[in-house]
Amino acid sequence: MLEQRKSDHIRINLDQDVTSSLTTGLERYRFVHQAVPELDLAQVDTATALLGKTLRAPLLISSMTGGTERAQEINRRLARAAQLHGMAMGVGSQRAALLHPELADTFRVRDIAPDILLLANLGAVQLNYGFDVEHCREAVEMIGADALILHLNPLQEAVQPEGNVNFSGLLGKIEAICRTLGVPVIAKEVGWGISEQAARQLASAGVAAIDVAGGGGTSWSEVEKHRATTPAQRRIAGRFRAWGLPTAESLLMARRGAPNLPIIASGGLRDGIDAAKCIALGASAAGIARRFLRAAAISAEAAAEAAAETVAELRIAMFAAGAGNISALQQTPLLKD
Ligand SMILES: Cc1cc2nc3c(=O)[nH]c(=O)nc-3n(C[C@H](O)[C@H](O)[C@H](O)COP(=O)(O)O)c2cc1C
Repeated sequence: MLEQRKSDHIRINLDQDVTSSLTTGLERYRFVHQAVPELDLAQVDTATALLGKTLRAPLLISSMTGGTERAQEINRRLARAAQLHGMAMGVGSQRAALLHPELADTFRVRDIAPDILLLANLGAVQLNYGFDVEHCREAVEMIGADALILHLNPLQEAVQPEGNVNFSGLLGKIEAICRTLGVPVIAKEVGWGISEQAARQLASAGVAAIDVAGGGGTSWSEVEKHRATTPAQRRIAGRFRAWGLPTAESLLMARRGAPNLPIIASGGLRDGIDAAKCIALGASAAGIARRFLRAAAISAEAAAEAAAETVAELRIAMFAAGAGNISALQQTPLLKD
């Protein structure tokens, strides 16, 4: 069933329009164009550090997949692109591989991406359904990850037929994992955003970073709408298309709630210009799922090209905004409509 769900997810994301009816809010922000940037484009430095590792650009291929042959191919294409361009990458939820170890290879990419910041992934709610720190450790070791993402997806679980909906008492369990795992834990939503309150709670639980995964891009209630097994489930899921905190708003909220943590901005980011805006709004890095999934579904070359273009867009945005490096970009004020 888990394998079926994974192939459904890829197929639905590629074949259907599952975008949120929200926008990210980033369209309301603009850089002040600098006609006299006093920079050499070739010297613009996009390098940064995240969780102790150097990234050649502050970009992350967001957690997506694993568990099937197709997913393995996609993961390997994404990993090759990440290695080529010095980006970070997450794999999809590894629950299936913890339950069925023969699937572990579909998540493994270290052989082709030895240097990247690589992020393991599990649903935080699994901590209420039998998973503990040993499962978390196994997920990290399975792929040679540098850190573990615990994703928080209450709404997705609530609108899916087989959802795990007991989210009570999770914070204490997340705190225990942060204390005992031995690698950094990143808390991440899946497309509805992290509020100021949630950021404060997660910071006090000891997470090392927060990925807001806000609204305006892939909507998981829309994805689940296409997997519904009854008309009522389909109608209920469809009602949530406009739910969530737009990414720009969530980023600012998470910064207020967790001012001392690195915040990763993701959810509906289309390109390197959106990524640059997020960095200027206070993010340490920016994550993109959908664009890279579409490219990796075509070929390894298309995935590498999408990564190269995203970095080029970011670099040119920095150049035209007069920001020669990432800390200058973080200090660059944006105009708001
Ligand atoms: C096919 C697919 C599978 C995904 N699976 C996971 C997952 O297993 N774990 C997770 O944390 N997020 C998962 N996500 C969510 C993404 O990481 C991301 O937060 C979300 O899609 C919003 O980004 P986007 O608008 O750029 O697509 C998945 C996204 C896609 C498109």
